[in-house]
Amino acid sequence: VTPLPKSPTRGRPDRDLALELDASDPLAEWREEFVIPDPHLVYLDGNSLGMTPKRTVAAVREVIESQWAGDLISSWWDNGWLDLPLTVGNQLAPVIGARPDEVVVHESTTVCLFQLVNAALDLHPGRRIIAVDDTEFPTDRYVVDGIARVRPGVEVRRGLDDLTDVDVVVRSLVDYRTAALQPIAAETARAAAAGASTVWDLSHAAGVVAVDLAGAGAEFAAGCTYKFLNGGPGAPAFSYVRSDLHDRLTQPIWGWFAQTDQFAMDAPFAPRDGIARLLNGTPPILGLTAARGGISIVADAGIAAIAMKAESLSSYAVDLADHVALTCATAPVPTSSGGHVSIIHPDAVALQRALADRKVIVDKRDPDILRLGLSPLTTRFTDVFECLMMLADLAAPTR
Ligand SMILES: Cc1ncc(COP(=O)(O)O)c(C=O)c1O
Repeated sequence: VTPLPKSPTRGRPDRDLALELDASDPLAEWREEFVIPDPHLVYLDGNSLGMTPKRTVAAVREVIESQWAGDLISSWWDNGWLDLPLTVGNQLAPVIGARPDEVVVHESTTVCLFQLVNAALDLHPGRRIIAVDDTEFPTDRYVVDGIARVRPGVEVRRGLDDLTDVDVVVRSLVDYRTAALQPIAAETARAAAAGASTVWDLSHAAGVVAVDLAGAGAEFAAGCTYKFLNGGPGAPAFSYVRSDLHDRLTQPIWGWFAQTDQFAMDAPFAPRDGIARLLNGTPPILGLTAARGGISIVADAGIAAIAMKAESLSSYAVDLADHVALTCATAPVPTSSGGHVSIIHPDAVALQRALADRKVIVDKRDPDILRLGLSPLTTRFTDVFECLMMLADLAAPTR
């Protein structure tokens, strides 16, 4: 895969260049793997809900028609349902640079964060200060505030510049508003130097950034599978814990799927070895089947190639926005992830609706941000071109 030059519009904000870029895109054929509901649709919202993989439609149908309807209860053992959160976790591991048996796919990101922040607090005696930034995604802030509410002595500190006395840092690798990308290894090390463990939220990174959790020495991470991993609406999230911490890993939601002998009904709780001790109750098999389909496409296409195309799409979008005088909140790569580009405009709500009326789907974050999601397996350079030209046109009177 050849990276695009820094300024890919090369002074030519024209459709022919977008067509040329699509023609030479080594990932172009992967779009065929997805359901395209309307050939005229420009879908730039894969950073919120990835498109539907055709293989997922087939896999979910198979699990319903053959396993659930046919094999019924025996599927828990014979079709691998009991261990599906771990199986899918192992499929995801190389996509985020984790080692085998370090990832589990289950629950929502919110619940995963709750488990991991508690686990990080309990890693060393006396830990009590959690740091989170004011600009962090709401659920991350709410989770740490909720933990402080139920754990006497635990305090939340706002801001990440000064980590003195901080024990646990909770932060996103990619900012959900601006797509700003943190240097994961350097920031993990900075926190560690202050004596803190970092719980990374990879929701806007997994499946679009070539994250190297092992290389960064990351201890804890969680994130969504329904965005760039195309896992489907409400698809279960993932948790990662570095393997050398598994022996000491405790978490507050004790359930029978984490029990050493799950079917020894009278036994007191004795957690399983390894990442399985994060499991809780009965996992959502249909959701996991869908997540597995989306994750497998990313794994098959290759995260390195995907990340490179994301950077190219992002450079192209930032450059084109500049050409048509739209204000961008996203810095060029490598400072941003490439997963989305945010345009700032006071009429963001009206513009989002006007674009939707023209079959161009983007999303919005209050108060004035339009997010253009750049999902490398489904987004074409021509999609970016159409969207930004239309946006420039619609925004012209108030610009
Ligand atoms: C950064 C980030 N964290 C967490 C979440 C929410 O996760 P969930 O709803 O799966 O708990 C989102 C959802 O968009 C997100 O963007």
